Amino acid sequence: MKVIKTIKSLRAFVSAAQDAARTIGLIPTMGALHRGHISLIERSGKHGDFVVVSIFVNPTQFGPNEDLAKYPRSLREDLRICEDHGVDVVFVPDAKEMYRVDDLAWVSVDKLSESLCGRFRPGHFRGVATVCAKLFNIVQPDVAYFGQKDAQQLAVIKRMVADLNFPLKVITCPTVRGADGLALSSRNRYLSPQQRKDATCIYRSLKTAREMIEAGRTNPKTIAAKIRKIITAAKSLNSIDYISVVDAETLQDVSRITGKVLIAIAARFGSTRLIDNVIVDCGRR
Ligand code: PAJ
Repeated sequence: MKVIKTIKSLRAFVSAAQDAARTIGLIPTMGALHRGHISLIERSGKHGDFVVVSIFVNPTQFGPNEDLAKYPRSLREDLRICEDHGVDVVFVPDAKEMYRVDDLAWVSVDKLSESLCGRFRPGHFRGVATVCAKLFNIVQPDVAYFGQKDAQQLAVIKRMVADLNFPLKVITCPTVRGADGLALSSRNRYLSPQQRKDATCIYRSLKTAREMIEAGRTNPKTIAAKIRKIITAAKSLNSIDYISVVDAETLQDVSRITGKVLIAIAARFGSTRLIDNVIVDCGRR
């Protein structure tokens, strides 16, 4: 496995694989790798890809009061995980390699970036879209793998790829959870044992919501109220950013539940902000 820090060497190394007619698979990450990330790596390996993992804690997607400085970093362990899972190359640029101080070009995906997390993290999806556009241009993958855990990010990236004609396929991988149902996240490391226990109410509430919709409930307010009730019972809950039932394609609020909806939650346990979601397809009703 090769570990590469510069764009120039990365391009040279990947282009040799392209010349050998390999399919290039890219898994963009911010490191602190866990089984969620590993599921993306394994999916790429299963497709027989030449597997490229990027590890870059992207400063432009963090707001001024967010956790950029204390975001978990565990490069040595991450590299071991990549090696163990057959990754061909890990790209670990520093911020100077990825951005110039006077960058003027940014990628914004309107509308899809504005609802849900966009309301609480202004500029976040511009940072995500820009760094992914850069990574796509640097690596030139045939396939890029993203997790359903970050549903809005996935929608933004898919739309950017379609609208800007990036010649690659985006593959969605299901959310990987702990045995207690909590969606795996690098930020779970911040949780105290009590907070982690309490945070399992997020997925529990999403499952209840799904069951209610499957049983025929169509009013998003009833669903959101039930979720709120379950989550606010948790002692270490600090605040709820949103509990939303939105159209799975447009990410806009729905007034009645029909077709495919995304139920999404962002809530803070202590100072740790957690997100999770499920998609429910109830057909046309
Ligand atoms: P990061 O949070 O490290 O996640 C990297 C990828 O792993 C994303 O596609 C994310 O959706 C996926 N992932 C995280 N937890 C998961 C889980 N429990 N199950 C399945 N997939 C999971 O998302 C980012 O980094 C950044 O925003 C990035 C796209 C790298 C741009 O900087």
